[in-house]
Amino acid sequence: MEKIVVKKSQPLSGRVRTSGAKNAALPILAATLLGTEDIVLEDVPGLRDVDIMIEVLESLGSVVERLGKNRLKINSKGLNGYTTSYDLMGKMRASFLVMGPLLARMGKTVNSLPGGCNIGARPIDLHLKGFEALGAVIEDNVGDITASCDKLKGTTIYLDFPSVGATENIIMAAVLADGETVLENAAQEPEIVDLANFLRKMGAKVVGAGTSTIRIRGVERLGGCTHQIIPDRIEAGTFMVAAAITGGDVTIDNVIVSHIKPVIAKLEEAGCDVTEGDDSVRVTGRGVKNLKIKTLPYPGFPTDMQAQFMALTTVLNGKSSVKETVFENRFMHADELMKMGAEITIEDREATVIGPAKLRGAKVKATDLRAGAALILAGLVAEGKTEIYDIYHIDRGYEDIEAKFRSLGAHIERVDED
Ligand code: UD1
Repeated sequence: MEKIVVKKSQPLSGRVRTSGAKNAALPILAATLLGTEDIVLEDVPGLRDVDIMIEVLESLGSVVERLGKNRLKINSKGLNGYTTSYDLMGKMRASFLVMGPLLARMGKTVNSLPGGCNIGARPIDLHLKGFEALGAVIEDNVGDITASCDKLKGTTIYLDFPSVGATENIIMAAVLADGETVLENAAQEPEIVDLANFLRKMGAKVVGAGTSTIRIRGVERLGGCTHQIIPDRIEAGTFMVAAAITGGDVTIDNVIVSHIKPVIAKLEEAGCDVTEGDDSVRVTGRGVKNLKIKTLPYPGFPTDMQAQFMALTTVLNGKSSVKETVFENRFMHADELMKMGAEITIEDREATVIGPAKLRGAKVKATDLRAGAALILAGLVAEGKTEIYDIYHIDRGYEDIEAKFRSLGAHIERVDED
């Protein structure tokens, strides 16, 4: 079993480049099922979740060729399946994103309930309601969900909550439907804009991505294209917090600055200096002042940065509060941070953190992907040695994480216990 060992480190300094965004790469990989010609994807991050999605595509008949560490060529002309195995679905919740494209191209899809990070109930009712509105018939056979249709028909769909996955799945289903689909109260995350840009290059007609109303006019078929995945704003944010928690001087390259505004605002509020470049951001100085954080759908503060900021608040002066409004059960990292000496109390969806705590190394568990990142951050300033277990969660979403942290001067290594 592998673990990550982090030792108290000097202030981090230097430059680091973010990889392509996991949450853009996954829906775009699913969307390749819609095309019948070669698609080349660049800046695809080397992650466990991406490997699983590639396995899903191959199991459905797509041909995936690795052109380099971060380049893929995919051809789905010979698509011949519509069932995603229980095994693959169980490994990653985002496998569910193949449902929209399969329904559009094959007229049928069978999927088990998805797995992935254990952060709340995470139902898929909004995805299914969207498919139904487009004319699909949904059947649930003890967790095996079948959606089928003759031909999807465009309609107006209002999402009760701006779910990222439901927005993506519905767009992907609608691009080959008859007529126009209008998606209201859609999620506005940058990864949805990247998906829409990719689909447009394939020949789809999608407008309004990045706003709450997205219009999709169905076309007969989609072709091929070359597309570069946008930078990972959560990875960038994680390195920004690493600078702030250690009082370092870190420049992060390959960043779309407008995507990380909420993170910049909170780090400045904590007392750090943030300098925005064209496609980079530099964070200097130690965060000291307590923070009030509330997660929200984009453009609000991202839930995927909540755990990393909770790690930061443990060493800020005074009382901070962290409110999670997107997911029901996303405070599991609090227990692990408390093992390291953090003072945190949780009531309902709000954590109160009293700082500055004198963190000390401990044996802790990455309870989910971003929780794992939070523990690395805490480990950088904790006395002694922090041993992080269950690091497969971290590998789902961070490419070359130890190498990147080490390049900034962090004491971090991956150790095989066997
Ligand atoms: C995506 C991201 C994830 C991020 C999340 C919120 C990917 C692969 N993952 O996840 O990293 O944390 O957005 O920014 O892009 N919900 C329902 N019914 C549904 C769908 C969702 O009630 O049908 C609820 C969920 O339980 C959750 C909330 O809506 O409480 C947000 O979920 P959603 O936006 O769908 O997140 P994901 O697409 O799963």
